[in-house]
Amino acid sequence: MQKVLVTGGTGYIGSHTVIELLNSGYEVDIIDNLSNSKAETIAAIEAITKKRPTFHNIDLLNRESLTELFDNNHYDFVLHFAGLKAVGESVEKPLLYYRTNLDSAINLVEAMLAHGINNIVFSSSATVYGRQYSPEYVETMQVGSGIANPYGRTKYMIEEILKDTCAANPDFSATILRYFNPIGNHPSGLIGENPNGIPNNIMPVIMRVATGQIKELNVYGNDYDTPDGTCRRDYIHVVDLAKGHLAAMQHIKPGVSVYNLGTGKPTSVLELLAAFESASGHELPHVFAPRRSGDVAEMWANPSLANQELNWHTNLTIADAMRDTLKFLESQR
Ligand SMILES: NC(=O)c1ccc[n+]([C@@H]2O[C@H](COP(=O)([O-])OP(=O)(O)OC[C@H]3O[C@@H](n4cnc5c(N)ncnc54)[C@H](O)[C@@H]3O)[C@@H](O)[C@H]2O)c1
Repeated sequence: MQKVLVTGGTGYIGSHTVIELLNSGYEVDIIDNLSNSKAETIAAIEAITKKRPTFHNIDLLNRESLTELFDNNHYDFVLHFAGLKAVGESVEKPLLYYRTNLDSAINLVEAMLAHGINNIVFSSSATVYGRQYSPEYVETMQVGSGIANPYGRTKYMIEEILKDTCAANPDFSATILRYFNPIGNHPSGLIGENPNGIPNNIMPVIMRVATGQIKELNVYGNDYDTPDGTCRRDYIHVVDLAKGHLAAMQHIKPGVSVYNLGTGKPTSVLELLAAFESASGHELPHVFAPRRSGDVAEMWANPSLANQELNWHTNLTIADAMRDTLKFLESQR
């Protein structure tokens, strides 16, 4: 049985990927420091899969703990999700973001190299494409310039660290997955996106408006050059995204590979809101707020490379994501 180490495995995307791994017969170890997730997620994963991943409460900044873990375990693959991801916070605390995200990645890769573990899949983001106006993004486009915030720059820098590591170590393989906008959750409703503190992504905000914890949804900008004036993004169901990691592992090859993981279809903020209202049967209070600096009007993935090379396609819809979000919301009450 192949064994996979998942950093950030109690987090939103990591936990969904752990479920797919366990359901596909992999043995899974998780590292997480629970800074943005809860230990209860392990029980929920077990309830869904009837299998329990091994949990290690380790901070990736702690090199000694990491070395000890690698001394005692062999891994066939490492999936690296852990890191800080709040865009606004990264603008206020850039050094925290550079320290946490860069040192975590370096510590992890150093430990892997020292223990002869050669396969890593890294959670990158469409944010590395910066502010260029495409609106359809392909992997061959320039990355690294015009990135709006320190969080995004850490993603770009880690991509570069992995490329340089592969260049220096011919046996090392790194697959970089550039996610577009993950939404939804496991259809059981037992796990979902429930960040500690103030949420950054749109669905946790929508959920908190629906439960009255936040008064209304701010829609940032309604004067963009788009069909309804609001931004259009490529929202991908997190279960499809999770399956992309298994496809990436199964097709890993020496050196660096980069894939967009998205649906290839844009949805506007107002369309997303309407989908939630239609699934819930209730109107969601919202107001139009000024544009946010750094936002482009439209951005969606060209996922052809992942479709062809990884034999991976998205299957789930925005309506599926809304149905699953409501189920998760119910389970939280
Ligand atoms: N959610 C998105 O919209 C999105 C989009 C693009 C890329 N990503 C990237 O995907 C990855 C997973 O995102 P997510 O939405 O699941 O985030 P998340 O915050 O839910 O999960 C990240 C996990 O990492 C853990 N963590 C943070 N710092 C750590 C450290 N120093 N040591 C150990 N654990 C640590 C957190 O406790 C959390 O459980 C992140 O790298 C994120 O940047 C997310």
